[in-house]
Amino acid sequence: MIYGKVEDYLPFLKSLFNTANSFKDIDRSYPNLLQGKIMATLFFEPSTRTRLSFESAMIKLGGSVVTVNDESSSLMKGETLSDTIRTVSEYADVIVVRCNKPISEWGECDCPVINAGDGKDNHPTQALLDTYTINQYEIPRNLKIGISGDMQNSRTINSFYDMLTLDNQIFPYDSTQQTSGSFLSLKDFEEILPELHVLYLNRVQRERHEIVPKNTFVLSEKHLNSMREDAIILNPGPRREELPDHALNDSRVKFWDQVRNGLCIRMALLHHILK
Ligand code: CP
Repeated sequence: MIYGKVEDYLPFLKSLFNTANSFKDIDRSYPNLLQGKIMATLFFEPSTRTRLSFESAMIKLGGSVVTVNDESSSLMKGETLSDTIRTVSEYADVIVVRCNKPISEWGECDCPVINAGDGKDNHPTQALLDTYTINQYEIPRNLKIGISGDMQNSRTINSFYDMLTLDNQIFPYDSTQQTSGSFLSLKDFEEILPELHVLYLNRVQRERHEIVPKNTFVLSEKHLNSMREDAIILNPGPRREELPDHALNDSRVKFWDQVRNGLCIRMALLHHILK
């Protein structure tokens, strides 16, 4: 089974969030839960939070971690990604993959494979922790969410948007209300900021551009002053200029909560898949 897209998690989303709540105490470990299980991490694109939160999650649950990267794996000798994943599946109970190839090229194996980011397409476990973070707060029925960033190249935006549009239990829309999206100019986006309950701020994916776009949204003191007192401002990280240092002092900015929630969500996920 490849857990490649947000929809693969929807059947067990509520129970995942409940389990994540039970793992929230960062000082606790559960060495008996996944004792004897092995997780392989295959990260062929850079990562800090996704990789280390998965690896820490496995260790906290009593399991072990094995890993290679593109320079140390036989991909360097021309092995296909699908052969690499199939090979690793013989040694591990779960595989976590980040790479720039679409999941259609990952092949098949008996071991569960978790997508930790496939190029610019999907980052479903990020959407899980983003949604989990929002769900820590009171959510109105007429929730208004604004997304800013690199719409063409951002897998975090794609998966977050999938979460909004595929599941109406997590974000309880009125049945009469359609989920709608529109592209706004910078100026128009600034004008809707005061209405937003959630602002999902994303960086420009510099690594996917030959010429870095100019005139992108950067959260200013003026923007913050214009926003609701109960707004939630998210950024999946790594943050760049779109979320400056000064903004981190604003209690509506949940950047560090997201980083922290990455651990308990991924503990819950590994527990669900391997229990
Ligand atoms: N949000 C995210 O995927 O961060 P990393 O690239 O550091 O894993």
